[in-house]
Amino acid sequence: MSLSEVKLLELPKILDPRGNLSFLQNNDQLPFAVQRVYWIYDVPGGDFRGGHAYRSLQEVIISLSGSFDVVLSDGYEEKKITLNRSYYGLYVPKMIWRQLENFSTNALAFIAADQPYSEQDYIRDFEAFKQTV
Ligand code: TYD
Repeated sequence: MSLSEVKLLELPKILDPRGNLSFLQNNDQLPFAVQRVYWIYDVPGGDFRGGHAYRSLQEVIISLSGSFDVVLSDGYEEKKITLNRSYYGLYVPKMIWRQLENFSTNALAFIAADQPYSEQDYIRDFEAFKQTV
């Protein structure tokens, strides 16, 4: 898998003077059917989350509030994407190392995934990830 497979998806944005609305729908905005969602919040300043890759899981990461950086690697190259708008979803395919960092106060990271939680699907050691690649 290469970093070129990572995509920043622009989600629908229904502008309204009462407040804006965005949404995700299986196989429409998302290139997969959602099996699980989870969210990360109350991250202390300077901490990071998610230093790992998934063997087969794919996901979309959205900053519902505040901002954070997603650092991605395919084992050869690295890139950093800042998420700070709730109408962008970062599509991360399987076998891409990703770390979430530089969380702002009150940042809320929302992740939609195509599989249930499975520890066996994680690669948590970067050297092991590079070997597997
Ligand atoms: P983990 O995915 O390692 O967190 P992060 O990648 O954000 O650093 O998950 C942390 C813990 O939470 C881990 O012990 C497993 C548990 N967990 C679940 O039980 N279900 C889930 O859907 C997720 C994402 C984590």
